[in-house]
Amino acid sequence: MMFNILKSTCLILLLLILASCGAQKELTENQLSSTVLDIPTYNMTPLVKDLMAKMTLADKVGEMTQLNIDMLSVGEPYNLVIPNKLDTAKLRNILVDLKVGSILNCGGHSYTRAQWKNIITTIQDYAVNKKSTGIPVLYGVDAIHGTNYTRGATLFPQQLGQASTWNPELAIECGEVTAYETRASGIPWAFSPVLDIGRDARWPRLWETYGEDPLLAKTMATSYMYGMQGDDISDPEKVATCMKHFLGYSVTLRGKDRTQAWVPTRQLLEYFAPTFQAAIDAGARTVMINSGEMNGIPVHVNKEILVDLLRNKMGFTGLAVTDWEDIGYLVSRHRVAKDFKEAIGQAINAGIDMAMVPLDASFPVLLKELVEEGVVPMSRIDESVARILLVKEELGLFEPMKPLDTYTEFASAKSQASALAAAEESIILAKNDNNILPLDKNKRILVVGPNATSLNSLNGGWTGTWQGTDTTYNTPGKMTILEAMQEEFSSIITAEAGQEVRAASRADAIVVCIGEMPYTEKPGDIDDLDLDDDQIELVKSLQATGKPVILVAVEGRPRTMNSIVDESAAILVAFLPGDEGGPAIANILSGDTNPSGRFPITYPKSSNDLVTYDHKGTDLVHRDFSMDAFNPQWEFGYGLSYTTYDYTNLIVLPNLNGGIDVSVTVSNTGTQTGKETVQVYVSDLVASITPSVKRLRAFEKVELAAGESQTLSYSITKEDLSFVGRENKWIFEKGDFKVAVAGLSEMISL
Ligand code: GLC
Repeated sequence: MMFNILKSTCLILLLLILASCGAQKELTENQLSSTVLDIPTYNMTPLVKDLMAKMTLADKVGEMTQLNIDMLSVGEPYNLVIPNKLDTAKLRNILVDLKVGSILNCGGHSYTRAQWKNIITTIQDYAVNKKSTGIPVLYGVDAIHGTNYTRGATLFPQQLGQASTWNPELAIECGEVTAYETRASGIPWAFSPVLDIGRDARWPRLWETYGEDPLLAKTMATSYMYGMQGDDISDPEKVATCMKHFLGYSVTLRGKDRTQAWVPTRQLLEYFAPTFQAAIDAGARTVMINSGEMNGIPVHVNKEILVDLLRNKMGFTGLAVTDWEDIGYLVSRHRVAKDFKEAIGQAINAGIDMAMVPLDASFPVLLKELVEEGVVPMSRIDESVARILLVKEELGLFEPMKPLDTYTEFASAKSQASALAAAEESIILAKNDNNILPLDKNKRILVVGPNATSLNSLNGGWTGTWQGTDTTYNTPGKMTILEAMQEEFSSIITAEAGQEVRAASRADAIVVCIGEMPYTEKPGDIDDLDLDDDQIELVKSLQATGKPVILVAVEGRPRTMNSIVDESAAILVAFLPGDEGGPAIANILSGDTNPSGRFPITYPKSSNDLVTYDHKGTDLVHRDFSMDAFNPQWEFGYGLSYTTYDYTNLIVLPNLNGGIDVSVTVSNTGTQTGKETVQVYVSDLVASITPSVKRLRAFEKVELAAGESQTLSYSITKEDLSFVGRENKWIFEKGDFKVAVAGLSEMISL
């Protein structure tokens, strides 16, 4: 440590001397202040140390460059020849001459395993055998809900759907399968999970999050990460995950993607940092940075976030990669830099290690100039390169790749069964008047609506293509809701659009599948959270027939539907259940599966009443000054079952560590086995920061046979009860607390 202090003091003195003698005429005040003076915080292994000793500046800036595969392919970016074909001249220029160290994603659509094998082996051949340093390429891919850019891979529910299961074990399985099938594609790095907290129903990437609560999100996230990374990411069946998008990306003022966000430090630390801290503690080795700007500063140039918080306070030592084109956007969108070169200097000096540039090969050339001009110190370059090389070594990239043909469990029956289980447990039964569900398999069921015949709508974005809308790349043999219903029930009635009401006369019950079609990122920005008018009108016209209407909402975010809820006999909500979503929904409607999904977000009744479950007392003040303004369509944690549960014997005691021990008995009082999610909420009655009305402090999903009871116990620590206080530090305050589980509650003073 002493060496570091001495070294940094010398470095600062040197900079000041150089600055005073004008040796750094290019350095402006702003650049000096943003220059990273931190001494490298990476651990140099012998291999990394040996490599770096031999690397030229050109080698190093190449390592910090990440390009999309379009730059290596025949054709122009976004307009490549199909099927994808690598271009030998581009391979040589990009990988050997420019020494680019990382490549990402696919050329516009998913590839077969054979295509990936050719791509990966060709790229590594150029990097290892033709490039002077022989350093292998680090290939990264968006594996968001399975290995969605490899044809035929197992596709799970999207994150919001996984969160709806409240079942961390399913998240582990999703991670295990995704890691295996990503490595089977020759790729060791996945750009997942999203750790942003989904607290704004309008945001088009809500379905990519694990919902609105930090505890549920970090539990699901670290479980998924364990499935993905295991105990050692050099394992040829494990991959490096990527925490994204650091930090404060999911709460823009307007609910539209990548628009400005105002996030005070206290809220940033209380709600948005905990998932990233949990992931860092769980061994995350890479992080992707938020494209947006927070409080007027683009995160990509905010050293306070990228170094002071991420590195020095949260202890992250892995590599930080930009999001897509975000250095360029510092010029064209955020306008904090006059040109690309200045933007590069700002971002690298703020702590970016690798630039997803991704179609601009000038990056390494300009970065090399910036170092030669003294704008970016060599120490900053060395810090980034060491982090990148360390991750490559940890991934086993310097060792021979496991032959891709030996991954014989790719899309195995076991993996598909895991995806079906996740899909089934993700479905939320939100309404079931007079227990109309499950439906008799011999009843005449009319199945209509736009989402009844769309497999793409079950998967959402990041499926086959970026937006997930191209049916060309759908997994063969997967069923839509209608196809699955036709398998599950003996007399399914269908109808052409416009003929639904007429067909209803022949039906005993009507299943209407509505919701959203696939989208991600800015294409998903909307101006109205209400369901589309034509869907509302279709449902109302069918309700008018007098036949029982069962709504199935397939969507990435909670589209408001208040006007059709009361007249619906039953409602299922499916937050993008994946390739197995059709059978999962059919199995629940038939009763073959007992639904166990619970809302991971608060489902609003109207677009102008977006509140989260952990709202504050002031959010309760109604327009008539009563205290019952919180009136969502469905609450966070809510969901029905075909069986019933009873909670008794809630015991709440202080524990020796100053926290709370909770025990409760839950019984299945119905007639069939079910999975119940026990949720423990704690309310801090008075605090120096306005307390939430309640916070989730423990949860567990348990399976209970009919008539079975279980007594469950939870230990809630002082840290669990802490909050970010007025000094923007985590604190615990003694006082009175209410512990609530289902309808039971007990008071306790600590
Ligand atoms: C996109 C997304 C990010 C993704 C990256 C690479 O813009 O924001 O989630 O991993 O670019 O595709």
